[in-house]
Amino acid sequence: MFITFEGTEGSGKSINVAWLAEWLEEHGHQVLTTREPGGTEVGEKIRSILLHCTGSPSAQTSLLLFEAARSQLVEEVIRPALASGVVVLSDRFTDSTLAYQGYGEGLSLGHIGMMNNIATGGLTPDLTVLLDIDPREGLARRLDSAEWNAIDARELAFHEKVRNGFLAMAAAEPARWLVLDATESLQYIRERIVARLALWQNERKG
Ligand code: TMP
Repeated sequence: MFITFEGTEGSGKSINVAWLAEWLEEHGHQVLTTREPGGTEVGEKIRSILLHCTGSPSAQTSLLLFEAARSQLVEEVIRPALASGVVVLSDRFTDSTLAYQGYGEGLSLGHIGMMNNIATGGLTPDLTVLLDIDPREGLARRLDSAEWNAIDARELAFHEKVRNGFLAMAAAEPARWLVLDATESLQYIRERIVARLALWQNERKG
């Protein structure tokens, strides 16, 4: 099973990915967690260009870099893990590119879809959890962390377009997405994820 977590800045993806990995392991699964951009040596180097390079890569250049990091991650890490029966959890995946470079930057969604397809060989998550939050609140949470980066620093209108992009994609494909209010308690969020996984398992058995 391949599960991705998506959301705008400060939505709490990372903490919930770590929790779900632990929960799945406690329930007898082998789990691999990863993140985008990153997750491989090549990908982590690309991540630092994307998030910390003062040379301001253009939207198109950023798109190519995100896809390059993704291609390496899928080939080197995700596909081999899935092939050996490991549950893979990723903090961001292809939907982030559609949301940020597509809905946010205004690059063609059709082109991004094609590039996602090339980078992943058509790999699609079984479940995508969207932790939805008002960008104002999310960015305020981020300000308190040491991880502030060039994308966080974009204007509020950009982050709002990204958020609306995620919500539009989730509404268009409800069977794959689970949308959760990221301002709810961790306990509520986790119960909903567990309930969705149980449903998914029952559907597969049936
Ligand atoms: P994060 O993983 O700490 O959230 O940081 C990654 C940043 O990169 C975040 O601002 C979202 C952005 N991003 C894109 O713009 N496009 C992408 O395809 C991915 C994976 C991330």
